[in-house]
Amino acid sequence: SRIFRDGTYGRRPLVPVDPDLLERKAKRAMSRRAYAYVAGSAGMERTADANRRAFGDYRIVPRVLRDVEDRDLSVELFGRRLDSPLLFSPVGVLELAHRDADLAVADAARELGMPMVISTQASTTLEDCASRLDGSPAWFQLYWSNNDDLVTSLVQRAETSGCDAIVITLDTHMIGWRPRDLDLGSLPFARGEGLAQYTSDPVFTRLVEERAARGDDAPKRRPTLAAIRSLLSMSRKHPGGFWNNLRSPLPRAAVETFLEVFSRSSLTWDELSFVRERTKLPIILKGIMDTEDAHRAVDCGVDGIQVSNHGGRQIDGSFAAIDALPEVAAAVDGRVPIIFDSGVRTGSDVFTALALGAKAVAIGRPYVYGMAVAGAEGATEAMRNILAELDLTMGLAGCATLADITSRSIRRC
Ligand code: FNR
Repeated sequence: SRIFRDGTYGRRPLVPVDPDLLERKAKRAMSRRAYAYVAGSAGMERTADANRRAFGDYRIVPRVLRDVEDRDLSVELFGRRLDSPLLFSPVGVLELAHRDADLAVADAARELGMPMVISTQASTTLEDCASRLDGSPAWFQLYWSNNDDLVTSLVQRAETSGCDAIVITLDTHMIGWRPRDLDLGSLPFARGEGLAQYTSDPVFTRLVEERAARGDDAPKRRPTLAAIRSLLSMSRKHPGGFWNNLRSPLPRAAVETFLEVFSRSSLTWDELSFVRERTKLPIILKGIMDTEDAHRAVDCGVDGIQVSNHGGRQIDGSFAAIDALPEVAAAVDGRVPIIFDSGVRTGSDVFTALALGAKAVAIGRPYVYGMAVAGAEGATEAMRNILAELDLTMGLAGCATLADITSRSIRRC
């Protein structure tokens, strides 16, 4: 109601409430390559478009006279009561969007009491993020390296630093075909961005040292005048990014080692037990879009499923994530909780996902745009706007609790 009252009395919000305006404002705040990386999706971006458009096929049913004065948006997930069903979905290389990067997200997540899913591809170590979260829920997202020792080390670090859950992202064992990045020649990892989990890891560091000792990488070239100019122009927009770049750039051996160990495309269901045996934390599989995969996931004993197509960043022409949700929910049949993401921009989108069987909803780009515009406060406000609209939508649809949101609350038109 504070957001509503401020709007009524003419106070302009810190970040635009309209998701498209928010994206446009964030675009102006970011460098060209940062915006390309965050906004870009796979191929002709048909999946990303479908993710958004498919929400339009579902219509919410208004209900009246049901006493919705006191609304409770809390939910229990993996033994912990959360104030709301929203999560900060893992987003890598946040240093591109704002110099405070993952720490700004941790501040926002702590402020809102929402879980932050810390990316393997983060710009800040998971230990620093977890300590900044200060007891507020921290989950760790794992990209499954082809190096077993590195997988073990990352999982142990997550456990030691007090993370509540491990989210294994399965749809990105190869990085999607993303023309916006490719045309700028600017995949961030090649410049050493988003590698904080790796460079802080003893296993990874050992691999880099071994590689450097073999001496099979060409010596680093001196920066060209154009590169220096681009650093200078970046410095005006992103002072932090500028200094990060000037401070000893990562040796080429580290970048090459990352490219070598990033993922394992040969991974199969049988190998999930490798992580299961190494942690007691709940395991969530992210990137499930198919009912057979959902059945297998539950049979493997995982604790949760995240229905997602990675915001359309992986396969161009995949179907919309929200269209996978009802089928997957039917297959899972309440045996484990389902988290949903991809294309969620508003509170009514969250409501729709909950009505289709999700227990919680993860938000991606909107909080990154909020952060690009106004740091931690911007990320907080972008998430709070989605939450406020969810609360309002629940009231108008006659739902006082999340349990009141059922398949009767929406219709497919
Ligand atoms: C992502 N996503 C992602 N997922 C993941 O498991 N690990 C990661 O490191 C990243 N990195 C990442 C970077 C950027 C710039 C984006 C936009 C997304 C995917 C993310 O968690 C989520 O699935 C999507 O962002 C959801 O789609 P929307 O809401 O952004 O459309």
